[in-house]
Amino acid sequence: MTVTSNLVQVSKDGEIAVITINNPPVNALSPGVPEGIAEAIEILAADSQVKAAVLMGAGKTFVAGADIKEFGKITSGERRGSELVELLLKMEDCPKPLVAAIHGTAFGGGLELAMAAHYRVANPGAQVGQPEVRLGIIPGAAGTQRLPRLAGVAKAVEMCAEGNPVKAGEALASGILDRLIDGDLRAGAVEFARQIAGKPAPKTRERNEKLGTPEHNAPIFRTARQNARNKQRGMIAPLAAIDAVEAATLMPFEQGCDFERNRFTECLFSEESKALIHVFFGEREVAKIPDVPKETPLLPVRAAAVVGAGTMGGGIAMVFANAGIPVLLAEVDQPALDRGLANIRRNYANSVRKGRLTEQFVHERLKLIQPTLGFDGFSTVDMVVEAVFEGMELKKQVFAELDRVCKPGVILATNTSTLSIDEIARSTSRPEFVIGTHFFSPANVMRLLEIVRGRETSKEVIATCMQLAKKLGKVGVLVGNCRGFVGNRMFGPYRREAQFLVEEGAGIEAVDKALFDFGMAMGPLATGDLAGLDVGWRIRKEYRHLEDPHVRRPFAEDKLCELGRFGQKTGAGWYRYDEQRRAESDPAVPALLKEWTEKAGVPQRVISSDEIVDRCIYALVNEGARILEQGYALRATDIDIIYLYGYGFPSYRGGPMWYADRVGLDKVYNRVCGFHRQFGALWEPAPLLEQLASQGKTFSGFQTGRGVAA
Ligand code: 3HC
Ligand code: NAI
Repeated sequence: MTVTSNLVQVSKDGEIAVITINNPPVNALSPGVPEGIAEAIEILAADSQVKAAVLMGAGKTFVAGADIKEFGKITSGERRGSELVELLLKMEDCPKPLVAAIHGTAFGGGLELAMAAHYRVANPGAQVGQPEVRLGIIPGAAGTQRLPRLAGVAKAVEMCAEGNPVKAGEALASGILDRLIDGDLRAGAVEFARQIAGKPAPKTRERNEKLGTPEHNAPIFRTARQNARNKQRGMIAPLAAIDAVEAATLMPFEQGCDFERNRFTECLFSEESKALIHVFFGEREVAKIPDVPKETPLLPVRAAAVVGAGTMGGGIAMVFANAGIPVLLAEVDQPALDRGLANIRRNYANSVRKGRLTEQFVHERLKLIQPTLGFDGFSTVDMVVEAVFEGMELKKQVFAELDRVCKPGVILATNTSTLSIDEIARSTSRPEFVIGTHFFSPANVMRLLEIVRGRETSKEVIATCMQLAKKLGKVGVLVGNCRGFVGNRMFGPYRREAQFLVEEGAGIEAVDKALFDFGMAMGPLATGDLAGLDVGWRIRKEYRHLEDPHVRRPFAEDKLCELGRFGQKTGAGWYRYDEQRRAESDPAVPALLKEWTEKAGVPQRVISSDEIVDRCIYALVNEGARILEQGYALRATDIDIIYLYGYGFPSYRGGPMWYADRVGLDKVYNRVCGFHRQFGALWEPAPLLEQLASQGKTFSGFQTGRGVAA
């Protein structure tokens, strides 16, 4: 039994044929796979000895879906997906029962394939899902039509619109799976196939009993649309997915498939989908560091320590504990330690109350966090993350002490957000083991981890931290050692423009709303209030003597701080806050702004939301271009991922550099030049932006050709 495509194999186990998809690493439905399955079906249909068949994946998974790389190659507007739809009809029409046997994941086209089989069995650890919305598309091979027929309308809407995976146990309960198989999946699936061989093979497309009635379904679709508008704000794919599931309840199967295919094609050609596919591959690309090969030996991180149990240190200790790594948490004195531990307990208790974690999980994690004073116990750990106050002298003292107490080969990481890794490293006798691990606040929630490479940081230490990021549930991005690293260095100009805009008369809410409507998770002024306006104010006061008096700088935030308005923590900043930290506008601030801007002689004018967005976002882009050119980020994609996971940039816009590419760098450059003429030196165009714009190129295509600069 040989199939022409080498991506699909057929073997026999008595009267049961086993079709195996073998397209590593994830058995995506790349060209050759659907054809191979179709051929296999023909072979077994014609073989009178075969009574039933099992369809499974080789290697670590069933099928992770359509081949996403293929989507990028599609440039014309023709309708897509129909070939796969045809294959699935052929499977369903196969006179001999087909059993899909799932291990790992059956995602997207993988689940669609399984649903066209007559039965589905799975290992208890398997997962199924329709994650297409995360790529800005919807299922394109009848997933929105078959899933409600198996799982019911509510579950299908949830899965197709939100894209979350469903574990095997839940999939069994909702009707997607027919049986769970402990132990050897192939043997169990073959045994199952023997049991159903010769019996009528149920076709999913003909099972209409779970499709409900319009009255029953109406509230399901209404709530799903509301949720999509709130939780996936600005995206079209979730709403299209809901429409397609609704079509399954209103139309015959074939028409429903047609409806789905039209919406799928619309989504596939959207900017949203291009951006989200860029994000999918970008997330994986950032893990690849040209001069730190995959084979680089890793250091063991079996036990860790965190110095400082403040805002960041406590969160970082939770991150280690959540990943099952025991962690010492060190403070200067007992009251500080008690405060830190109380915060950790409160954080965990909130998660339990919200149903995100179980009591049992929290109990286990708390046992892994071992409080300590000074550096007691540090001689046994494999990695230390320092998170004490931001001050070079203090950091140097701490690192000198760590150098003294830690065993050789320990990774010494700092969570500093502004200080030089190299200077900190020089206070030790082992700078090759020193690295920056810049967590974002709240550390136990935010997924970004900037990993800062010092001049002497060893490749083993970098490779270990990149790997560790994944283990800790973070997205690690390697950056160079410049002031503010990548994320905060770009955030400076972004927030500077937001403040200038307010000082020029744009209105506080108008600035925040324009950027919120652009898709940012929060407006820049509200973000300042959340993080604390005093943080930047203190730094600016320290470095004031270095400022050029001829360059304009924003003043309103300094003045707010002088009035004790530090943001949420003091109940007032740009906005005022109630006990629950809910923001409302504060008429005092526009009045103060009027007084201050009059005194400073800043002309007031009407400012459009387009100008607000362009000034803030292009300030990010222009600084991003400098960072890229100077080699502090490896690729434009790395900057994009930093902004998506650390700064609430909308994923459906792909990140600031991707966004600029899509607008067109010539347009961006011209706008930046306009701002340069209007507002002066701060808007000097980055040379790389000018160069790429004049050559008609993009940031995505730009390679520094060297590793990240330390
Ligand atoms: N197409 C092409 N390449 C894929 C792929 C896919 N569907 N899924 C994964 N890959 C690639 C990754 O890019 C990566 O490549 P690299 O090694 O060169 O970086 C490699 O496979 C391994 O992937 P991961 O690093 O993500 O491996 P993990 O083990 O961590 O995760 C996974 C495996 C959970 C399957 C994860 O890869 C995943 O979620 N994949 C995407 C699933 C998905 O979105 N499917 C829907 C596709 S759209 C569709 O099916 C449309 C249909 O309705 C017609
Ligand atoms: P914090 O002020 O909340 O906590 C610092 C803690 O360090 C205090 O509890 C203090 O008692 C303790 N400490 C001071 N000296 C110590 C020593 N010698 N040994 C043990 N503990 C000591 O500060 P926060 O906000 O947690 O910041 C810590 C570091 O993280 C800083 O470098 C900061 O720049 C950085 N960071 C802060 C972020 C934030 O949003 N707060 C975000 C990312 C980085």
